[in-house]
Amino acid sequence: MILTANDDTIRRAAHIIRKGGLVVFPTETVYGLGANAMDARAVQKIFAVKNRPPVNPLIVHIDSIRQLRLVTLVPRKIEDAEWFKTLIGIWPGPLTLVLPRSSSVPTMVTANLDSVAVRMPSHPVARKLLAAAATPIAAPSANFSSQVTATTAQHVAETLGAAVDLILDGGPCEVGVESTILSLLEWPPRILRPGGIAAERLSEILEVPIEELTRKAADAVPLAPGMLKEHYAPNTPLVFRDTASSIDHTSGESASTCSGSAKVGLISFGPSYGKDDRTQYSVVRSLSATDDLSEVARNLFSALYEMDKLGLTLIVVDRCEEEGIGRAIMDRLRRATMRFAGKK
Ligand code: TXA
Ligand code: MG
Repeated sequence: MILTANDDTIRRAAHIIRKGGLVVFPTETVYGLGANAMDARAVQKIFAVKNRPPVNPLIVHIDSIRQLRLVTLVPRKIEDAEWFKTLIGIWPGPLTLVLPRSSSVPTMVTANLDSVAVRMPSHPVARKLLAAAATPIAAPSANFSSQVTATTAQHVAETLGAAVDLILDGGPCEVGVESTILSLLEWPPRILRPGGIAAERLSEILEVPIEELTRKAADAVPLAPGMLKEHYAPNTPLVFRDTASSIDHTSGESASTCSGSAKVGLISFGPSYGKDDRTQYSVVRSLSATDDLSEVARNLFSALYEMDKLGLTLIVVDRCEEEGIGRAIMDRLRRATMRFAGKK
């Protein structure tokens, strides 16, 4: 059931959460598939519905510092640090912090890790829901594992709709890509996933160079378990625009972008049609009329989702500079295009 979010439907949603049910709700980043984080049986349903491997831990959404204390054990040294106060001053917002977990969090939520990922979302519907439910809410993005993330309630309804108790429609998400995940389990802290809060901003607050914050793990163990499996990919093959043209020019036999009956869609980041765009592509969707990367991020997942429904042979997408929100955009697109490269 999909209902427009208002005080009445939010109250119903909170009731469902307290009874151990599943509610899809909007956050400023993407839609979340929520359950009472303190109820292991409710959380188990999230994994079942998403087809999510149990080794991939969930983010716990909180609405207060009191709830932060309930679910984490913040070491004294961190708690007292000025940078920590500035960091949590970003809340509510698209920043997730990985901290040592308190024993009150069911192990199911954290995939048996000693740490827990927490964030305080800023979307008014998420905030009202958390307040009314009066419990932290565990919520991954509201999409099937490894598929395109949903940033509208309609897209959730078309995919997970039948498997959840209620979808609260709060309109399209403003940020459009997931939160930035920052691990505070080590020094310097480490960005496990680029997202809605720019690495540049974290670098300033922490006084740690970006290269150090974004350093890769030395071993093969993924620091954000499950990240390796996140593909964000549509079913239609997806390639970067520059790769597509090189395929075109160098080899006649590989998936030529525009010859014959091939139907190719273009997701462009800018306003203009290149000189060949109109003839080369069956559909062109521009994500921003002003080359604004925040707007690109906001529209990215829904454009991928919508284009995926058109029965195209190939989707071609632009690249952007890896700065600010551009890091998150390129991270998601690299994963999404990699899946296609692997499949051939
Ligand atoms: O913006 C967001 O973060 C959205 C909205 C709904 O809040 N949520 C979201 O959740 O993106 P999900 O499940 O799609 O991604 C959560 C990521 C996973 O990659 C997981 O591996 C990582 O967070 N994660 C969770 N707990 C962790 C932990 N204790 N240590 C390291 N990584 C963790
Ligand atoms: Mg996800």
